[in-house]
Order: sequence, then C-alpha cells, then structure tokens
Amino acid sequence: MCGIIGCIGEAAAQPFLIEGLGRLEYRGYDSAGVAIWNGKEIETRKSIGRVSRLAEALNESPLDGDTGISHTRWATHGAVTEENAHPHFDASGRLALVHNGVLENHKALRDGLLGRGHTFVSQTDTEVLAHLIGEAFDCAPVQDRDALVAAVRYALGQAMGTYGIGLLHADTGRFLIAARKGSPLIVGFGDGRQFLSSDVDAIADWVDEVIYLEDGDIAALDGDTYEVHRVSGGEATPPAPVKVEAPPTREGRGRYAHYMHKEIHEQPETLREVMKGRLDHEGGTAVFSGLQRTNEELREWHRIVLTGCGTTYHAALAGESLIEALARIPVECEYASEFRYRNVPLDSRTAVFAMSQSGETADTIAALRESKRKGAPTLGICNNVISTIARESEGGVGLRAGLEIGVAATKTFTSQVVALAMLGLLLGRIRDLPHCEGMDIIRGLESLPELVAQTLELDEEISRIAAKYISARNFLFMGRQANFSIALEGALKMKEISYIPASGYPSAELKHGVIALVNEETPSIFLAPQDGVYEKNLSNIEEVKARKGPVIAVGTEGDETLASLCDDVILLPQVPDFLAPVLNVIPLQLFAYHTAVALGCDVDKPKNLAKSVTVE
Ligand code: M6R
Repeated sequence: MCGIIGCIGEAAAQPFLIEGLGRLEYRGYDSAGVAIWNGKEIETRKSIGRVSRLAEALNESPLDGDTGISHTRWATHGAVTEENAHPHFDASGRLALVHNGVLENHKALRDGLLGRGHTFVSQTDTEVLAHLIGEAFDCAPVQDRDALVAAVRYALGQAMGTYGIGLLHADTGRFLIAARKGSPLIVGFGDGRQFLSSDVDAIADWVDEVIYLEDGDIAALDGDTYEVHRVSGGEATPPAPVKVEAPPTREGRGRYAHYMHKEIHEQPETLREVMKGRLDHEGGTAVFSGLQRTNEELREWHRIVLTGCGTTYHAALAGESLIEALARIPVECEYASEFRYRNVPLDSRTAVFAMSQSGETADTIAALRESKRKGAPTLGICNNVISTIARESEGGVGLRAGLEIGVAATKTFTSQVVALAMLGLLLGRIRDLPHCEGMDIIRGLESLPELVAQTLELDEEISRIAAKYISARNFLFMGRQANFSIALEGALKMKEISYIPASGYPSAELKHGVIALVNEETPSIFLAPQDGVYEKNLSNIEEVKARKGPVIAVGTEGDETLASLCDDVILLPQVPDFLAPVLNVIPLQLFAYHTAVALGCDVDKPKNLAKSVTVE
C-alpha cells in the first residue's frame, strides 16, 4: 500500500507533492510526510493521520525547493507514529527515501547494519533500505549521481520482497531516483517538470506522457532528461511513453454527508452504464468487445476461475451461480490472496478473470500473473481501466462505475455482479441457452436500475431500523444460494465501517453451529425473498425466533407472513430470482452505513483500511 509522489522541475515542488498525495490517499492514510531539497539540504515535515494534517503543518511552515518526494502511509512495519512516517533518512541524514511495499529480509539487513554501527529511529523496513543505500553511496570514491544510482542498484540487489521507491540526496541536488519491483511506479513528463507517482490519476492534470516502470527498473531524473537502469546491471531501453488521458472527474459529495452514501445512491446510474451498448436484443445476448475473443474462441472455454479479494470476491461468488446457471460452465471462485500459494489446476481452456475495482490489488495482480505463467487465458474485470490488471490482462470488461471514493465498495459491487450476469448470458447464448430465455434475462437486467431506484427509497426506513440495533455487539447475516454471497457482503460492510463483529452464513448452516450464538442481544439479518428456497428460509427464521433472537428480514413486497414472523422487515420489489442478489445488497449497504453514522464512525475512511490494498 502507501502512495508516493515525487516532483522535480522548474517550480516549487510542495504544492504538487501535497495535492498529488491527497489523490493517493486511497492507498493509505495512517500518516503522511514530505522531503524537499532546498538547494543545500533536505528538509522534512511529517504528521500522523490524513494528508490534510500534513498540509496544515506545511501551511504554517512551508518547505522551499523544486525537488522533493512525499508519501502517504498504510502501516506495515511499525506502529502509526511520526517516527515511522516516511520519508526516512540514511545515517548521514542527507538521503531521504519513500517506499511502498514490504522488504521481507529487512530483519537480516537491519542486523547487518546494526553490526556496522548504524542506529535507527523507526521500526520500518524502509529506514533499513535508506541506510543501506546511504552506506553504499558514502563508500563510493566520488559522491555523484552515478554513485547514487550504483548505490541504489547495490542495495536493491540485496532486498527481497516488493518495493516502489523514490529518493533524493542532498549531495546530488536536483536529482530524483525511482525504482520498482512488485509495487507500481510511474514516471510522468509535463510542462518543465518530471514526476514520480504510484498511479497515473494522481499526476494526470500535470503530465502529457508517462512511462510505466517495469520490475527491476531504476529511473534517474534530473528535471529535463531521464535514464532507466536495471537493478541487475546496465542501462535499459526505457519503456515507450504513453499519452495520458484525462482522469475521471472527482465530483463532490453533493447533498450527501458521505461519499459512501452518495455512491450507494448512484447505483441506478452505474448499472445503466455497465449495461450500456452491451445488451443485444436481436441476438438475445450480451456483447463485450473488450474480451477480444470470437464466439469460437469463447466456446473453447470449459472452465472459468473468478479471482478477487474482499467485496470483489463476494461479487465473484454471486457471479458463480449466475454463470453456471446460464452457461452451464463450471466456475470456481478463488481468493486472490490464496491463489498463488495453491496449485490451482489451470490450462489453456480455463479462463481466469482477475476481478478488481482498483485494478491495483497486489494479491489479484499476483493471481493474474500466476495464471499467465500456467498458460491460462487471463481477462480483467476492473473499474479502473488504466490499472495494472487492465494493462496486463489479455482483454476484459470495464465497469464504468466512475470513481469510487468511499473505502467501502458499494456501487462497484453491483456493477461487478451485473457484468458477470451479462458474461453468463453471452456464454450461455453461444452454447445451450435459447433466445427466449436470453430475452428474459435481458428484460430482467434492464428492469434493474428502476428497481434499485425504488429500493433506495427505503433509505429512511432502513435508517430507522438500523437505529434500533446500534447497541448490538454482534450481527449474523444469512442467505441461501447466491444470497449467501450477499450475506457475506452485508457482514463485511458492517464490520469495515461500524467495527461491529458480523458474520455471514448459508441459512441452513445455522443449525450446524452458528445457532449457539443466537440470543436476545444478537440480531440475525435474513435474506428471504420469495424464491425457490423461501419456505426453507422461513424455517430457519423460526429456529432463531424460538431462541429469542431478533430477526430483521429482507423480503419481497407484500410478504405479510415474513412481516408477522420477524421483528423488522425490509420489503423490496419483485425481481427475477437470478437478479435478487443485486437488489438485496442495497438495504445491507444502507443498514451498515446508517449504523456506522449513528455510532459516529468515519464512514468514508474507516480505521486501518485503505481503498486499494497494494501489498501482499
Ligand atoms: O480494488 P479491489 O476490488 O481489488 O479491492 C478488493 C478489496 O480490497 C475490497 O473489495 C475491500 O474488501 C473493500 N474495502 C470492501 O468494501
């Protein structure tokens, strides 16, 4: 995780470093820091918490200079303290370094440095790297720019793990070095300035072209020209510059108090967007030009693996049922964080879909690369289509949900599920699914935005219900079939923004252990639409009620049986069974949101989390 910005050029660096850093806060917001070369030495400012606090500190005491680096941290090694905030310095105090990633052998390297008389002010792996580079530089016969590149190469040659780094040294002045392995790092070129950044969007307003550094690259920038060297030795042919497109506009929160609330309410529109131009009435099918596959090639697939993390993994689970039902192709969902440590059977006829809102989740990138290594066709399903996953996969599906700023994923979840439903439709129609059934699916999909809009009208009612349960210390979420994935997602939303323990289960698992948790203080939230397993859910609800457990049920409009059985009901419009998960998740998103607001939690930036998890 962590975000890096570097700037070198004709104007003062500080405004660029701070504004760019604010745009990278989705990568972590435990602490932030900046280091700028003032023509003689390097000055630094750090603060705990958000970039806005660092900006306040800099307003009071600005840093002058045209060459600098900055960092927003998601803590991996060492607590959230000012000492552990980046930039970190070497023993001489003249080299400053920011780092994104994890050095796995930092302990051995630290011990070696301690043995050679070094002392450290932080517990971070990053400070170890700063000392290692500084030590090699100080040993060089001449302390010039070539020596600094050589010192970086030497130190990174010893480093195991992942890194994206930016550094400067007071002795080499107007000179920045960047290097990467496993963590993204981009070099951008604008009007009289060069930049380093963890992603393109953060610098897109200031640059015309960027290069994406490759693993093992070391870039050296002097404000005008640049060179790319390899950690393994020698110079590299720099990657070809890529033109930068305008980033998606970052709209404000409008009438909403939080981005999460706004993004929940954007779902009718984002669902329209994900379907736009992709439903083919004549063929009763879906069309995805981004897959870059002919129907003959798609028919070759005999198995599909969906991989992702967190909420995205839950979308994959919902999609599994949809694709299997529509296309009769076996689908497996794999946690991306487990993928490369398991020996998942893959072959050239098993399509792997790497799913990720951000397209930058380290585990999902690793799963994608592992799949490629094993010869499987790799596709991406991303919201951010200029991301690593979008670039490295052979083709894919863009979600078009717009920027999602709230750390808790909401609108991108429903877009992912609908994208998978359309994929199931396409794969079904080139196999056994008849045209008339394809048309039913299309009609169901097209009705969704309006049904979601109607569901969102229950916002205030859900807020009132949530208020009744804010003293609960544990929530159980239950659903069957595809609604089990929604139970998992409802529980995750509750945990991540309100910090209340919550867990999701298939309803029938209740009697296999979970029922031991049922008591008067533990609310159970059941997903119980009037579908093929409705009566089964009613029986499970009875079992909870028999043990005095409060029950909140999400059901179908007009269901009086459910209303008489449960303490509270949230009744949603009728929807075809296969699309019920898309509708059912909305009240759970709102329930978690209103609970968190009532408890005074920081909804858009929950503690310990980051929007994009870029470390393993
Ligand atoms: O960007 P990704 O979809 O790859 O992110 C995956 C998870 O980190 C993400 O869904 C996370 O679980 C969210 N905080 C959930 O709200």
